[in-house]
Amino acid sequence: MDRRLEGARVLLGVCGGIAAYKMASLTSALVQHGATVDVIMTPEAERFVGPLTFSSLTARPVYTSLWDAPERIPHIRLVREAQAILVAPATANTIAKLAHGIADDLLTTALLAARVPVAIAPAMNTAMYEHPATIENLTTLRARGYEVVEPERGFLAERESGVGRLASEERLFEALALGVARRTSLAGLRVAITAGPTREAFDPIRFVSNASTGATGIALAREAALRGADVTLLLGPTQLEPPFGVRTLRFTTAEQLHALALDHAVGSDITIATAAVADWRPAERAESKRKKSDDDLLVRMVRNPDVLAELGARKGATFLVGFAAETDDHEANAREKLARKHLDAIVVNDVRDERGFGPGENTLALLWSGGRRDLGTAEKSLLAARLLDELIALRENR
Ligand SMILES: Cc1cc2nc3c(=O)[nH]c(=O)nc-3n(C[C@H](O)[C@H](O)[C@H](O)COP(=O)(O)O)c2cc1C
Repeated sequence: MDRRLEGARVLLGVCGGIAAYKMASLTSALVQHGATVDVIMTPEAERFVGPLTFSSLTARPVYTSLWDAPERIPHIRLVREAQAILVAPATANTIAKLAHGIADDLLTTALLAARVPVAIAPAMNTAMYEHPATIENLTTLRARGYEVVEPERGFLAERESGVGRLASEERLFEALALGVARRTSLAGLRVAITAGPTREAFDPIRFVSNASTGATGIALAREAALRGADVTLLLGPTQLEPPFGVRTLRFTTAEQLHALALDHAVGSDITIATAAVADWRPAERAESKRKKSDDDLLVRMVRNPDVLAELGARKGATFLVGFAAETDDHEANAREKLARKHLDAIVVNDVRDERGFGPGENTLALLWSGGRRDLGTAEKSLLAARLLDELIALRENR
């Protein structure tokens, strides 16, 4: 028997489509495979199947309204407890709402609050499925990291035939199993992540720094924690908030990061170094503010420790990943760094014109000694998920 869902917690969102009746069979299969299944039905879904069917199969309450359980906020609790979510059958209406962030029933509100893998299995009449609005909405959802389980061609309601038939039970099961695997892909592993800029002061109020905000490292820390890792985030000076529930230690200078990294990154299962560490620091730091004068100011800079190279020298069994923010010859520079610092992989980030800094979109490519993978252009949270998928696969095949 397939044991991938044994002990898993999954959430099923059932919408008001004719295929809603098929979800009873899937629910039963999930329960028989050892999963704990919560079911949310849209009010329209209740016109097709009774909640009693699902509550009998799961031996758990079925949720149909935001206002069902006033003692606890159901949409937050249900998505927090789930390891993966499947919306099936996903109606054109619910797909449209999700693509536009509308949250006017329990299911769409819960989906908006979800930070776990979500699979969407559309099922509808061919004309509805091929409508430009539906096509565009599904494209939006795919780009945001939702797994769309494509409908099949076959017999439809009203004795029609065409594309729009709900994917088979095996494919729906597979989508949930993949979601749960992703959600637990770092369970039991210690992950250390460095993020943000350093500040190297030459008097009490002036410093040399860089444009890093730590957004990429913070997104990676959040995603790694969601996948069950024990995460330590070493975070430099930034206005951005560290993720909830992640052990965060703060540094200001490269030397402080160096000390923290030796204590917390050496010996971890995976270390991802995204911090933009200053290569030099002012040789002297004045005790009081340097007075303005008409003379030029000469600040002599001395070399900082190379934190990543040192982690490479002591890496042991750690899977070590660096970032290369480059403005020219990206790949050649990154490959040189990969080899010299004994990294297992390196992520290349084009930072010409300050691209890649701050929240928002970024474009990344992953390089390792045997290959290369483009991660594309996307929001940093989505890139973090793609990058971790790739790193986990690389580490397993190491
Ligand atoms: C008999 C019947 C069958 C329907 N089947 C579907 C369907 O398979 N797919 C779909 O997208 N909409 C279908 N609809 C339309 C939806 O029920 C309608 O858009 C509803 O607002 C969806 O609500 P929900 O997304 O909140 O569940 C059907 C409507 C009726 C009356």
